[in-house]
Amino acid sequence: MSQANSSESDSQVWTIGRLINWTRQYLTDSGSDSARLDTEVLLAEVLDCPRIMLYTRFDDDPGDEVRTKFRELVKQRAAGCPVAYLVGHKEFFSLKFKVTPDTLIPRPDTEEAVQVILDLVKNNQSPARSIADIGTGSGILAVTLAKELPDARFAATDLSDTALKIARENAVSHNVADQIEFFSGDLAEPLAGQTFDIIVSNPPYVSEAEFDQCSRDVKQYEPSLALVAGPTGLEVYQRLVPQALNLLNPDGWLVLETSPMLAGSLQQLLQQHGYREVQIHQDLAGNPRVVLGQRQTSGSGS
Ligand SMILES: C[S@@+](CC[C@H](N)C(=O)[O-])C[C@H]1O[C@@H](n2cnc3c(N)ncnc32)[C@H](O)[C@@H]1O
Repeated sequence: MSQANSSESDSQVWTIGRLINWTRQYLTDSGSDSARLDTEVLLAEVLDCPRIMLYTRFDDDPGDEVRTKFRELVKQRAAGCPVAYLVGHKEFFSLKFKVTPDTLIPRPDTEEAVQVILDLVKNNQSPARSIADIGTGSGILAVTLAKELPDARFAATDLSDTALKIARENAVSHNVADQIEFFSGDLAEPLAGQTFDIIVSNPPYVSEAEFDQCSRDVKQYEPSLALVAGPTGLEVYQRLVPQALNLLNPDGWLVLETSPMLAGSLQQLLQQHGYREVQIHQDLAGNPRVVLGQRQTSGSGS
């Protein structure tokens, strides 16, 4: 990274505009496919200002201290570390969530699962008094839904205690800690004896072969526990879909995020286990993303 050296020998001031242009090119050359956004998010972070403000400060000299901090972050980004881990947060459903390398970075696709549940409530298809979030990670699903549905109570599980710690912090910072109880353990096992109107999950669904093809940013930095399900990608669903039947109230809904490749197989899995009203919803990009089904009115139906 030569910006440091050239800045000292170059008489031109390293204004914010110049830093942005130089770094965008540097990150592009380093393999980032979101170089401009990465640059602006990192610079806004060290300047402690909203990203939009960068445009009003294009000709400002940010000073040596800011430049040194920025250079360090850019170096790590060029080595592959995702921006969200460098700044320690990521936006989801217009809320800011703390994230660390112990938690998956929230994906915009997951907002579809929130929207599907809000639509079930809006259309009077679920009372949504009790909701379980299985594999909560940073807590985005439970916390976002708790903010949207202030009368609902939530149970959120994860196998990772370090992720649960972050989820708890996010619940506190969004003032919904009193609505959510967190449980450490395998899938829905810690919730035995409780029942829910809705069970939502964005579980690991990447196959081992797909994981090999993932980008360096994902493979080296995000927790594989959050991503990899097994040889086919369906392994976690195969355990969770029957397990959820024992925890859902009659007419309760199971809402699962998935990949476009697995949506058809997951739909079949729900049907095989006796769920009704099985549907596939698309995300904003038009890809099959959320599969949901309803428990039979009486009995497990399986
Ligand atoms: C794809 S991430 C989703 C995290 C978060 N819900 C989100 O949407 O960003 C899957 C999460 O499931 C957790 N997990 C993986 N296997 C699990 C298991 N057997 N039981 C409970 N949680 C599990 C991981 O630690 C991770 O936090």
